Amino acid sequence: MKLAVVGGGSTYTPELIDGFARLRDELPLSEIVLIDPDERRLSLVSAMASRQLLRAGHPGAVNTATSIEEGVAGAQAVLLQLRVGGQAARNVDETLPLECGCVGQETTGAGGLAKALRTVPVVLDIAERVAKAAPDAWIVDFTNPVGIVTRALLQAGHRAIGLCNVAIGFQQRFAAALGVTPDRVSLGHVGLNHLTWERSVHLDGADVLPRLLADHGQRIADDIGLPVSLIRRLGVVPSYYLRYFYEHDAVVAEQRSKPSRAAEVAAMEESLLAMYADPAVDTKPELLERRGGAYYSESAVALIASLVNDRGDTQVVNLRNDGTLPFLADDAVIEVPARIGSSGAVALPVDPVEPLYAGLIAHVTAYEALALEAALHGGVDRVTDALLANPLIGQASVSLELARRLVEANRRFLPWA
Ligand code: G6P
Ligand code: MN
Ligand code: MN
Repeated sequence: MKLAVVGGGSTYTPELIDGFARLRDELPLSEIVLIDPDERRLSLVSAMASRQLLRAGHPGAVNTATSIEEGVAGAQAVLLQLRVGGQAARNVDETLPLECGCVGQETTGAGGLAKALRTVPVVLDIAERVAKAAPDAWIVDFTNPVGIVTRALLQAGHRAIGLCNVAIGFQQRFAAALGVTPDRVSLGHVGLNHLTWERSVHLDGADVLPRLLADHGQRIADDIGLPVSLIRRLGVVPSYYLRYFYEHDAVVAEQRSKPSRAAEVAAMEESLLAMYADPAVDTKPELLERRGGAYYSESAVALIASLVNDRGDTQVVNLRNDGTLPFLADDAVIEVPARIGSSGAVALPVDPVEPLYAGLIAHVTAYEALALEAALHGGVDRVTDALLANPLIGQASVSLELARRLVEANRRFLPWA
């Protein structure tokens, strides 16, 4: 089968290719088309990808395109992994909110809103082209903020599913701690993208989360940057994005004292591109494992294989709520385990969510709805409303100042500004 990757010139792509090569029995690909407007990156990354496949003895071909229509024609799945404005725009998302006393993060809080404003119009335009050129293709969205972008895609009627590597990361780490293979472990994962909690961890039918917290609590706590006493008392494992909520002020102080993640990643990208330019390099560089998206290829392969081959297995994805969490509207996008087959994803039933988590989920869902309105229709007032509704901002004067400054800094990416 043919797969297209929009944003294929990303320095992350060799991670994806590594997964396609390792997991070729699960998902046999005959052609991978990398689509990107940046021709320099496209040629460096595609040459690297071809060498990786050759080295792995994979029979598939890597092709490139700068046009969506040409690139996606005949594809069964289209992966979206783009970053509008690159690391430079991300740097603004991470630093500008800090000047107003708010956390600086590219997917959460004010930075996440700025990213949504830049990204939603671009992704919707791409999806419309995909719908015309490859009407049967599944759109798999890794583009952040995944919750808001997936909501935009579904609201516009696209065949889309949102994906993130946080859940598969927990599945792999818990399996390693238990000394079993990841396929034996299933997560009681609930929430919104980058706002989730693991409320259970099932191994062969039994919930082993209490045992994991007792035996490996400290390491789990260190990985997510939260106190072990907190997660033991709650009996759940929040994703590390919850740190921006539960330790907000500490994170702000920490972020003010060091370079932004965008600056760090920009430096890594330079080294990665230099490696990709070296014809002797034909395996995934170790440096890629220091990126947050390490192993996102595993979740991409699993999802696409189940969509295309109607496997009916369970995977954590982003999809329409449709009553799964009864305290949210049907059109909210949630991140939960779902059964995946050729007609898409169907959420599994979720046990009633405790107020401690349901409150924050509902709060952030309201923010996401307003963020999408702002991204679709524009205006400083809509941006301000979204910030007022965000639990990490919420104050009127701060919301107004941040709205003005974020719109100003992102003007060239906003069709309405
Ligand atoms: C995690 C998140 C991704 C995010 C990435 C950032 O993997 O799930 O959604 O894009 O981290 O990683 P980076 O290396 O760019 O900071
Ligand atoms: Mn993610
Ligand atoms: Mn509207």
